[in-house]
Amino acid sequence: MGHAAGYDAELRRHHEVLRRAAGVRVTDHVLDVGCGAGQTTRDAARAAGAGSALGVDVSAPAIARARELARAQGLRNVTFERADAQVHRFPPARFDVAISRFGTMFFADPVAAFTNLGRALRPAGRLVMMVWQAAERNEWDVAVRRSLAAAGGAVDGARPGPDPFALADPPAVREILRDAGFHDVAFADVREPVWYGPDVAAALDWVRGFTCTSEILTRSDPEAAGRVEERLRRECAARLRDDGVWFDSRAWIVTAHV
Ligand SMILES: C[S@@+](CC[C@H](N)C(=O)[O-])C[C@H]1O[C@@H](n2cnc3c(N)ncnc32)[C@H](O)[C@@H]1O
Repeated sequence: MGHAAGYDAELRRHHEVLRRAAGVRVTDHVLDVGCGAGQTTRDAARAAGAGSALGVDVSAPAIARARELARAQGLRNVTFERADAQVHRFPPARFDVAISRFGTMFFADPVAAFTNLGRALRPAGRLVMMVWQAAERNEWDVAVRRSLAAAGGAVDGARPGPDPFALADPPAVREILRDAGFHDVAFADVREPVWYGPDVAAALDWVRGFTCTSEILTRSDPEAAGRVEERLRRECAARLRDDGVWFDSRAWIVTAHV
């Protein structure tokens, strides 16, 4: 299972929630922020049959994959650009709606980034983004970090690198969006599980691919790495259902208007 396919599969339940919340109309011009391999962009393009969808992402391989998939699916009203959404010069007042599936938590300067996105939206344009709630409400993060602790090192401190939980706190997000010129900010609680694979072996493989996991496994001695693997295997096995391994998760759909 490739990473993009794996991520789309992991988020299959979330995808539907975001699609409904975005409510893309047939004439809409849609901007998908941090689009990755572009599943949400392609869906938006299908809904906006008389409009368009642009997906942007800082990752060149993600954009290449997104273009390839859109071409393979014969979509004509979708484009992808490699761009940092925080600073990219989008055409002003071009888009009716900016959507994102977990692509807006990584900005170095969130107020600057959302101000930039706001400028790209038409008057009364909408922002509809899905972001993770706090780490401790996300069983997938709690379980993985608990397992990594079996390596013996501390893993509960500050997270190195990009923080997927950076937009978890509603009052802080409200302030960021207000400072960026948005109003009518609202939060909808999303309680859908993430899917890690059809069986325990596949789920374990998927978790091994997480940056935090692979870093710890690489730098641990074989005995410590074995303990981590065993803990991860047990966490996955405990969540095996008829249709695969599911971990609980909590997200927000954040909506706002310019
Ligand atoms: C968790 S992934 C989600 C990808 C995609 N939305 C999906 O659901 O499949 C986050 C994405 O945000 C992108 N990203 C992070 N910072 C960005 C920025 N400043 N501008 C554009 N994309 C960014 C990353 O490259 C990554 O592809």
